[in-house]
Amino acid sequence: RHTIKIAIDGPAAAGKSTVAKLVAQELSYIYIDTGAMYRAITLKALAHSIPLDNEAQLTQLLEQTVIKLKQAKEGQQVFLDGEDVTLQIRSQQVTNHVSYIAKLPKIRQEMVNRQQSFAKQGGVVMDGRDIGTYVLPNAEVKIFLVASVDERAKRRFKENRRKGIPSDLEEIKNEIRKRDQIDSSRKVSPLVKAEDAIEIDTTNQSIKQVAELILEEAYHVL
Ligand code: C5P
Repeated sequence: RHTIKIAIDGPAAAGKSTVAKLVAQELSYIYIDTGAMYRAITLKALAHSIPLDNEAQLTQLLEQTVIKLKQAKEGQQVFLDGEDVTLQIRSQQVTNHVSYIAKLPKIRQEMVNRQQSFAKQGGVVMDGRDIGTYVLPNAEVKIFLVASVDERAKRRFKENRRKGIPSDLEEIKNEIRKRDQIDSSRKVSPLVKAEDAIEIDTTNQSIKQVAELILEEAYHVL
């Protein structure tokens, strides 16, 4: 069976993972959330109290770390050295620190190697910041998802409320702006739309509509 690679990039909380999951399900492809990998090493670094600018020590830590992404019915599960950290990596603490680790060149190099080897397995939908530009430059379908900061913050706020997590709309807005700023301005593989990516503004579109647009692109190539 002919399979393709689908790269989905975009700023924080643009709905990438929700949409990517739907698309992967529809095509029976594997889904790889690369943000979860950066979050997992951030969780471990914080637990070990390693300064987030100590690239050598963090790289050594990552080399001794096993990060597994498992496809489950309830969604993707993330395992850090065998421990299920699916919920922990979404904490405010991890969210506020992850971009500092993600900007270190040696950390990115190791992550990109791992992500590229995951993608060798065949049909894959991968989401992140540098998938279309750097991790899978040959992906047959490249999507860049955007939405206004207000809309992204509102969605995250509602999602938190649904999950019973207390949060503040203004704080979410600030966190999203800050993360986008660090991710877009780093020296190595910053958040930027690939030249050949299709940009989709999801501000006024449902998850289903966006997934359908991406599937149309996929079927076009398949
Ligand atoms: O996608 P998510 O919001 O979970 O990503 C968390 C953080 O991980 C991003 O803000 C970014 O700093 C980093 N990241 C990255 N490259 C990727 C995926 C995520 O730098 N491919």
